[in-house]
Amino acid sequence: MQWRIVGTGSCVPEKVLTNADLEKMVDTSDEWIVTHSGVRERRIAVTETVASMGSQAARQALQEAGIEASALAAVVCSTCTGDMICPPTACQIAAALGASCPAFDVNAACSGFLYALQVGSSFCESGPVLVVAAEKLSRVVDWTDRSSCILFGDGAAAVVLQRGETWSQICLHAQEDARDVLTIPGLNHGGVGEGLSPSYLVMKGPEVFRYATTILPEMVSRAMEGAPVSLEEVRWIVPHQANYRIISSAAKRLGIPVERFALNLERYGNTSSSSIGIMLDELNKKGCLKKGDWVVLVAFGGGLTAASALFQWA
Ligand code: COA
Repeated sequence: MQWRIVGTGSCVPEKVLTNADLEKMVDTSDEWIVTHSGVRERRIAVTETVASMGSQAARQALQEAGIEASALAAVVCSTCTGDMICPPTACQIAAALGASCPAFDVNAACSGFLYALQVGSSFCESGPVLVVAAEKLSRVVDWTDRSSCILFGDGAAAVVLQRGETWSQICLHAQEDARDVLTIPGLNHGGVGEGLSPSYLVMKGPEVFRYATTILPEMVSRAMEGAPVSLEEVRWIVPHQANYRIISSAAKRLGIPVERFALNLERYGNTSSSSIGIMLDELNKKGCLKKGDWVVLVAFGGGLTAASALFQWA
């Protein structure tokens, strides 16, 4: 089913956690964090929940689209850090908006927004679809682990999809046998007779780095396969905002300047599956997207998963 984006929204928490703040929490420095990741600050949810951030982003997207929540055909939410496992975050968001339609979550870690886009687009025949990504990484980050806690932040984004006429393509991927490279155990009760255990994100940073620098350019190329335009004609590449070094290495492999990638990771860090939508909304609100512009979205993350999309701004 072809689709187009008719509204975008985003929401990040008020609280800013700077690299200087992190220097007081773990043995690190602003200089190390900036040179190894490009991140200068990130947002941390205090009063905000995954559902409240997702709902706020969704309201903005619906407002721009000029669509009432009651008209939605489906609400699909990407999250791997939801406030609750049940009810799904999508159901909480649908309830907050007053939408009465199918609502469910998708989890493909940091690639989840594009997986949700693919699933959401299949409902477009029945009406407008709300696709949300909402994450609170701060609840699973080990704030004593300097090799991971410097990277992540919280936030949410949303888009409203409608049936489209122009060419679009979404590509999804999951690497075989890479289950222990990036893990978040989740349910922290082991089983009968077993106690509670902490449920932190554990990451083999250099392995993720190697995977990301290879898969990112590959997924961009896959998105372009059979497309009516060349990569040179694409206005923006919006990548998962994980790490400046990963993105600049991918740009080199693709033989294009890194300036073709839209980046805001300096201000928000890695907000997992929300990061692409937050960046897309920023481009939209700044007027950097014109009707007819071609856009590539590209993601990678735990799983290990990866995804990309090519579409025309409508
Ligand atoms: N501050 C200072 N030193 C740090 C540090 C920090 N925050 N984190 C790690 N170090 C140290 C390590 O302890 C190690 O020291 P040693 O050589 O004395 O043992 C040294 O820096 C190098 O560690 P290493 O893990 O090899 O660093 P790196 O250059 O690979 O950078 C990451 C680490 C995490 C920034 C990098 O691997 C990365 O970005 N990986 C991808 C992560 C990612 O994007 N994950 C999300 C995917 S969705």
